[in-house]
Amino acid sequence: MKNVAIVGCGNISEIYLKNLTETFQNVCVYAVCDLDEAKVQEKSEKYGAKIMTLEEILKDDAVDIVLNITTPAYHFAICKQGIEVKKSVYVEKPLSLTVAEGKELVELAEKNGVLLGCAPDTFMGAGIHTARKIIDDGLIGDMIGATAFMVCPGHESWHPAPEFYYQTGGGPLFDMGPYYITALINLLGAVKFVYGMANCVRKQRMITSQPQKGKMMDVEVATHVNGLLQFENGAVGNLMMSFDVYGSQLPRIEVYGTKGSVIVPDPNTFGGDVLLKQSFDKEFHTVPLINRYSANSRGLGVSDMAYCMENDSKENCASGTLALHVLEIMENILKSSKVKKELELTTTCVRPGISPIVL
Ligand SMILES: NC(=O)c1ccc[n+]([C@@H]2O[C@H](COP(=O)([O-])OP(=O)(O)OC[C@H]3O[C@@H](n4cnc5c(N)ncnc54)[C@H](O)[C@@H]3O)[C@@H](O)[C@H]2O)c1
Repeated sequence: MKNVAIVGCGNISEIYLKNLTETFQNVCVYAVCDLDEAKVQEKSEKYGAKIMTLEEILKDDAVDIVLNITTPAYHFAICKQGIEVKKSVYVEKPLSLTVAEGKELVELAEKNGVLLGCAPDTFMGAGIHTARKIIDDGLIGDMIGATAFMVCPGHESWHPAPEFYYQTGGGPLFDMGPYYITALINLLGAVKFVYGMANCVRKQRMITSQPQKGKMMDVEVATHVNGLLQFENGAVGNLMMSFDVYGSQLPRIEVYGTKGSVIVPDPNTFGGDVLLKQSFDKEFHTVPLINRYSANSRGLGVSDMAYCMENDSKENCASGTLALHVLEIMENILKSSKVKKELELTTTCVRPGISPIVL
């Protein structure tokens, strides 16, 4: 059993707390921490975890994993402090604001002999796992291409503090891109080159959620982003991530091979329908899911990290190396949109393994 200290008790913390206390048996929520006293108090009472400051967490030998689910601007600094005191760290996406910071974390974790993990872990769930098995079993032949779309009107209609989604580290690409790009890497492998085009038409947006309804916020990031991806295996892909679309009927992810196509479910979920059409089929048909995590299982990557620590494995699935490659793809799509050139990636990764805990 590994003790987890959660830093950040905001919107997403509830599902982590629920799953880490109820669903996954190899982890225990030892402590919770937040700058906001009311939030940390509520979670401590509800889940029976100690309230600790970050300094106390870093000094406490009983803490095995620091789970950093603060907003993106704090990801790097808190992860670095955790790794420096030789704790394994799992962080929400994106890994950091820049590739330089992400690299520093990956290298430091390796040097200090600890594990670094990063959301999303949705690709470990039943939906994308099933799609991957279809590809790995050769049912759609050799990879030709893939397409990924996430279009919505933005998060200011539901998140109580949506400002961070429009600051550096946010935007549709850095916020939602990790789900889609991680899924694509899991299905097709690493990416070699990217090209990007992006814009930000509205420089200010109104918050329509409570409690800040009516407040205007500045937009620092591109809100409509297109990317082209050249995979190392020769396949080509495109993605569109947007916070500027009020309605659409686009699919989420589709993968095309020489012998068929797979429609992959929403990579921001763990389950969903996986549809397959091989060259001889008239219609798509639904393929039964092959692992048991189809409900919202956020924290699966943390549980896998705990499993790796218990079994002396350095190969956690939602790894820092994978997240760093995802981060470089996103950073380079945005850079490419400015320099108007195709950019080659300096990072790579292997397709993540299948964790024994999902089987
Ligand atoms: N909200 C969602 O639905 C959702 C879904 C998936 C992933 N995420 C990711 O989870 C992360 C957090 O998102 P959120 O929606 O929970 O944000 P949030 O703003 O609701 O919560 C973040 C919390 O972190 C705390 N915090 C910030 N800096 C801190 C520090 N130095 N020490 C201790 N606490 C600190 C804040 O006080 C706040 O309570 C983001 O990276 C986001 O992309 C969010």
